[in-house]
Formats: sequence, structure tokens, C-alpha cells
Amino acid sequence: MTAVFPGSFDPITSGHMDVLTRASRMFDQVTMTVMHNARKQGKNLFTLEERLHILRAATAHLPNVSVDSFSGLLVDYVAQLNAPPYKAVIIRGLRAVSDFEYELQIAHLNRQIGEAETVFIMAATRWSFVSSSMVKEIASYGGDISEMVPRVSADALKTKFAEAYAERAVNQG
Ligand code: PNS
Repeated sequence: MTAVFPGSFDPITSGHMDVLTRASRMFDQVTMTVMHNARKQGKNLFTLEERLHILRAATAHLPNVSVDSFSGLLVDYVAQLNAPPYKAVIIRGLRAVSDFEYELQIAHLNRQIGEAETVFIMAATRWSFVSSSMVKEIASYGGDISEMVPRVSADALKTKFAEAYAERAVNQG
């Protein structure tokens, strides 16, 4: 059975990696698809190409995981991947109860408009406070994000915020 793990992935975090790794053991094939989140319009740090590059590098060790992008409705993308008798499912990670209301709404809408099923995977508690936006904020001040993201994301963040990291290193002597 095929699963689609959609998201902004700006950039991919250790929480995403945890959910992805566990999904890759449950499904024959998992496609990580970078999609547009209208709520994050103009807020992405990395370009689409950069995010795809980071995702490919971070997931290269998982043989049944592929990386893609799509601009449009998630249900249309999922429909393209359906292989009868199975329907592809959507994977979403849940960190805490605070994620649930938003995710529940989207899952219901995706079932209503495209009969798409969503499977939730709870991220390990160690990642429950990690989000791409918090990681970007910490990195923008040159803080240590090495535990919270895969190595390739950390390197990309350090390149983006090179000045902040250099300045913090000087201040810390
Ligand atoms: O990582 P994110 O930003 O929480 O991912 C949200 C995403 C990109 C999966 C969601 O915004 C989405 O599905 N976008 C595609 C457009 C769509 O289908 N919208 C209807 C459901 S909100």
C-alpha cells in the first residue's frame, strides 16, 4: 500500500523523520510530497528546490521512500497514486493535542472532497515541542538545533543564518 506524507518541510525536522521512518515500516511505499500551505504564504525560508534537495538527502537511506512536489489539492495528488484495489492514504504526524483540532478538520475535509483517508502517526514525545518554525527561529539567532533536525537540515540552516552563527561564536569566545 502506498502512503503520501505531505507537508511544507521548511525544513524537515527530527519529528518528521521519526514519523516517516515508522511509516516506511508500515507501507510498501511512502512519498514525501512538498506542498503549498496557504497559511504559510510567503513565510518559507527555503525555496522549493532547496527543500526537495534537503528531503532527498535526509531520506536517501530509506529505500521505499521517494520525494516529490505538487501544487494543487492534496486529494488530487493522492488520487493520482491510487492503485486498485488499494487507495493511497495520507500520513500526518501528531505531536500533541494542540495539533489535533487542525489535523482533524483537514482529514475530514480531504475525505469529503476526495474520499482520501488519513492515517495519523504520533511523533515520539521527545519531538513533541519541535516544529520547523521554532527550529528556524532558534537558528536565526545562531542557536543549537543539531538534535532537532537531520544533519542536512542543520547544515542548510547554518548556511542560511551564517552571520548569526559566526556572531554567536565570537560572543561565546
Ligand atoms: O507541513 P504543513 O505546512 O502543516 O502541511 C500542510 C499541507 C501542505 C499538507 C496542507 O496545507 C495541504 O494539504 N496543502 C495542499 C492544498 C490542499 O489540499 N488544501 C486543502 C486542505 S487544507
